[in-house]
Amino acid sequence: MTTVAEGLLLELLDPANRADPYPTYRRIRERGALQLPESHVAVFSTFAECDAVLRHPSSCSDRMKSTLAQRHMAEHDAEPRGATSFLFLDAPDHTRLRGLVSKAFVPKVINALEPDIRTLVDGLLDTVSDGSFDAIAGLAYPLPVAVICRLLGVPIEDEPKFRDASALLAQALDPFMAMTGEVSELFDQQMAAGRWLADYLRDLIAQRRRRPGDDLMSALIQVEESGDQLTEDEIVATCDLLLIAGHETTVNLIANAILAMLRHPQQWTALGSDPGRVSSVIEETMRYDPPVQLVSRIAGADMTIGDIDVPKGDTMLLLVAAAHRDAAVFDRADEFDPDRGAIRHLGFGKGPHFCLGAPLARLEASVALSAITARFPQAHLAADPVYKANLTLRGMSTLFVAP
Ligand code: HEM
Repeated sequence: MTTVAEGLLLELLDPANRADPYPTYRRIRERGALQLPESHVAVFSTFAECDAVLRHPSSCSDRMKSTLAQRHMAEHDAEPRGATSFLFLDAPDHTRLRGLVSKAFVPKVINALEPDIRTLVDGLLDTVSDGSFDAIAGLAYPLPVAVICRLLGVPIEDEPKFRDASALLAQALDPFMAMTGEVSELFDQQMAAGRWLADYLRDLIAQRRRRPGDDLMSALIQVEESGDQLTEDEIVATCDLLLIAGHETTVNLIANAILAMLRHPQQWTALGSDPGRVSSVIEETMRYDPPVQLVSRIAGADMTIGDIDVPKGDTMLLLVAAAHRDAAVFDRADEFDPDRGAIRHLGFGKGPHFCLGAPLARLEASVALSAITARFPQAHLAADPVYKANLTLRGMSTLFVAP
C-alpha cells in the first residue's frame, strides 16, 4: 500500500504536474519532513532544513556512500564505478578537482566573455521575425550551449550529435530510484548516453593533446601532463559535467525569467526600459521558479536536521523549489516580485558544491533578458509553454512568444 509520503513523491514525479509543481510542493512542505525508512530516504522541503543539510559537515555528495548503493553493489557483486565528476565527490578529491577548474570561472575570465555573449544574443534576436517565435530554440538554448562549447573547446557543429545524450543525462539526475524504489525505464538509454558522451570527449581530448587550443579542455590536459594531479578519466568526467551543466541549466533560467515577466507584463516593460533591474529579475527567478528544483545529499554519519534523525547512509532529497516558497522566510512567497529586496535562495546550492558556473549563468541571463525586453517591448505569450518531463532540471521544451 502506498503511504501518504510515497503518494506525494509520486505526485511530484508525475509529468502531468510539471507545469505547476508548486501546489504539490506546498502540500509536502506543510506535512513536514518525509521519511521513508525502508527506502532509506528523507525528504526536506523547508528553507531551514534544506539550508541546514547543505551546511552540515556530515552531508556527502558521493552517492556510493548511500545504503541503497552499498546494498545494490553487494547484491549485484558490482565493481565500484569508474571516474565520476566532482559534483558527486567529497573531499579530498572534490577539493582538488574543483580547485583545478575554478580558475577558469573567476570573475575576470567570465566578465571578459561579455562582448562575445552580447554579439551572440544580438545575432539570435536578429533572426526573430514578426510572427511568434520559440524563445527556447531561438535564444535560451543556443546561447548557453554556444558559450560552454567555446569555453571547453567543443565544436559547436557537433551539438546535434550530443544534444540527445546531454538531455538523457540531465534526466538521469531525477531521483527516480529514491522516490519509487525502482529503476527508471530510461536507465539503459541513460547509461548508453553516458558511455557515448565519454567516448566522444575522449576522442576530442586526443585531438586537443595533438593540437592544444586556447580552451579549458587543453588547459586540463596541460595540468595532467605537467604532473599527477589529474587523470585522463578525471578530465573526461570534468568536461562531461561542464558540458551538461552548460547545456541544461542556464536555458531554464533564461526561459523561466521570460515566462515570469510575460505573466507579469509590468516587469517586462520595466526591465526593457531599465536594464539596471536585471539582477533583481534574475535572483527572483532563481527563487520563484528555480532551474534546479532539488539537490541530494547522503548522510555520512547519523545526523539530526530540525527534529528529524537521519541515519548514516540515508539519501536526503532537498526540495529547494519548495523551500523557496516557505512562508517562514518569505513574505508573499508565491508572488513573483523582483522588488522584494534582498532575495535569498538556494538555487545555486550552498557550501562546498556551490555552483561554479553561477557568475557565467548570471552574465548570460543578464545580457539575454535585458536585450529581449528592450528589443520587443510589446511582447506577449503566444501559447501555453510546454514542459519536458525532467523533475530535477525542470524546464520548458517550447515557449512561444509574440514579439
Ligand atoms: C542558471 C544556471 C545554473 C543553475 C541553476 C545551477 C545550479 C547548480 C546547483 C544547484 C549546484 C549544486 C549542486 C549540489 O550542491 O549538489 C551546481 C553545481 C555546479 N554547477 Fe551549476 N548551475 C547553473 C549553471 C552552471 C553553468 C553554466 C556551469 C558551468 C559551465 C555550472 C557548473 C557547475 C559545476 C561544475 C557544479 C559542481 C560544483 C561542485 O560540485 O563543487 N553550472 N549548479
